[in-house]
Amino acid sequence: MKKKVLFLSVCSLLAGWTLNAQDINRMVLQANKIGAEIQPTMYGHFFEDINFGADGGLYAELVKNRSFDFPQRLMGWDVFGNVTVQDDGPFERNPHYVRLAYAGHDQKHTGIENEGFFGIGLKKDAQYRFTVWARGAGQSVRVELIDNASMEESQVLVSQDLKIDSPEWKQYEVLLTSPQTIAKAHLRIFLTSPGPVDLEHVSLFPVDTWKGHKNGLRKDLVQALADTKPGVFRFPGGCIVEGTDLATRYNWKNSVGPVENRPVNENRWHYTFPHRFFPDYFQSYGMGFFELFQLSEEIGAEPLPVLNCGLACQYQNDSEDAHVKVEDLGSYIQDALDLIEFANGGTDTKWGKLRAEMGHPESFDLKFIAIGNEQWGPEYPARLEPFVKAIRAAHPEIKIIGSSGPGSEGEAFDYLWPEMKRLKVDLVDEHFYRPEKWFLSQGNRYDNYDRKGPKVFAGEYACHGANGKKYNHFHASLLEAAFMTNIERNADVVHMATYAPLLAHVEGWQWRPDLIWFDNLRSVRSCSYYVQQLYGTNKGTNVVPLRMDGKPVSGQAGQNGLFASAVWDEPTQTYIVKVINTSDTAQPVAITFEGLKSSQRLAAEPSIVFHSDNPDADNTLDNPTAIVPRETLAPTVGGNQMTAEVGAQTFAVYKIKVGE
Ligand code: AHR
Repeated sequence: MKKKVLFLSVCSLLAGWTLNAQDINRMVLQANKIGAEIQPTMYGHFFEDINFGADGGLYAELVKNRSFDFPQRLMGWDVFGNVTVQDDGPFERNPHYVRLAYAGHDQKHTGIENEGFFGIGLKKDAQYRFTVWARGAGQSVRVELIDNASMEESQVLVSQDLKIDSPEWKQYEVLLTSPQTIAKAHLRIFLTSPGPVDLEHVSLFPVDTWKGHKNGLRKDLVQALADTKPGVFRFPGGCIVEGTDLATRYNWKNSVGPVENRPVNENRWHYTFPHRFFPDYFQSYGMGFFELFQLSEEIGAEPLPVLNCGLACQYQNDSEDAHVKVEDLGSYIQDALDLIEFANGGTDTKWGKLRAEMGHPESFDLKFIAIGNEQWGPEYPARLEPFVKAIRAAHPEIKIIGSSGPGSEGEAFDYLWPEMKRLKVDLVDEHFYRPEKWFLSQGNRYDNYDRKGPKVFAGEYACHGANGKKYNHFHASLLEAAFMTNIERNADVVHMATYAPLLAHVEGWQWRPDLIWFDNLRSVRSCSYYVQQLYGTNKGTNVVPLRMDGKPVSGQAGQNGLFASAVWDEPTQTYIVKVINTSDTAQPVAITFEGLKSSQRLAAEPSIVFHSDNPDADNTLDNPTAIVPRETLAPTVGGNQMTAEVGAQTFAVYKIKVGE
């Protein structure tokens, strides 16, 4: 019910607006009803190696096919002179390497050149660590970074000679400083002695990685993740957990130990979409489970690994034979138990010892594990059940996450939820990549969920623009913000939520929209990113009831396109109110804080608003800050009431501190 009253706010007066008598949207916040705890895991990230998110993205390695173990051994490399591929190298699981030998003319006529991932991005004055395993007594090579603009203009940016002084395999290192910023350099190595010289695991990293780790991650991208204050970090997929087939599923045991000996795996996304073929998309596993656990720890998020449940991707494999029979699941279940030991086990255990050898003797304090990704049909619970039994028996402390299938509702979803309850998993993973209309209609999605069953993990979601034509545009992010009020209001049942996918290389994407885009040098935080960040950094500790006409503010009829939720933040003694106005007109809002003690006073902090005049606009690499949250004047507070004008198509965050 709308009431006609005179609405004036300090903001509006200062902004020069003339407000006449108009409709006020009256809401009641029950200040004395500090409700369910908002789980520290509530907002987080889901990382999958899709869109060149790992190799060529977050993982800072700049050389593609560094171990010559792609099925086409020289993919990513140009060779000249006398170069042969050998297969008896020092690393058992990556046995190939190249031999550079005299080409019959000048010795410099033999060499190799790597194209990187869409080129090699270099920054002026930054240092790059080149390493290589080599053998060849009394030999030498030259290592160069070159500008590859064109054959005619190919310029050497920096070069250094490297002496290979042993007939045995040995690792060599050279530091190169780039004299300029360039997005698409190449790496060239050529003989400067008669040879032969054998080269294996040719690697180039920026020295300045996240926290300076040697096998490190790209700093700007990790910083973006950390800046949302994520509470959970789900990895490594997604469909890559399932693989195109079981042989190419993500196998965490292949992703740990010395990087040189982590076998290359086909990336499941390389041929998935005919319009986005990437035949050169493989996983080096260089950023494997150790690095992903370490990353979770360093960004302050609970690690949440997802393991294959014995089913290959069901979209691509509908025959029984493609999957593991229930009675043959033993090694898959052992992988799950071993993973828990790798993360948490003592250094006297097999897998805990490996973790310690890799540099982390302390436990990673793993609390959650997911079994299966987007599975459906009776074949999934049949396989999940023995996992649950084994994990419960060995590790009752670990929370298990099951799947509700690929859809937000429908047959698979309706079948799997009761099955997940029957199996008593702790959380159920829901996925929804849905259009704007759907997001607008879901303001009450979780209000009536069973409070006694498993909790919800909204593990993959994103608003996809109408007709698939718009990506990461402002309007989609606004509707995500609106939807998230429902997640927040139902924090007693929703314990985690992660947008998906997370990362995308502008030249290498298979799936969009994505949260963060990047090229070889730059990155851009999408509008959806800022929504996640506003929630993550204004999470609060407890839900507080907020109602309009006695109902949740969820875009219902008569609510003028408004969505809203409220939380209490115990450490700062602050109520945080999020209001999303999805309508095309500004909406005056008055919130009464009911149940305050007479001694309590409200004081408003500056508001944060997120808005774009153009709903189709987005942030781009060339204009990364086109649409960002802005701090504006505080809302008006008087007595136990807060009033504000929420602009059309605006996400506003209000912080009201309580003092005596
Ligand atoms: O996020 C992209 C893909 O969407 C994930 O790999 C999969 O789980 C879902 O289908």
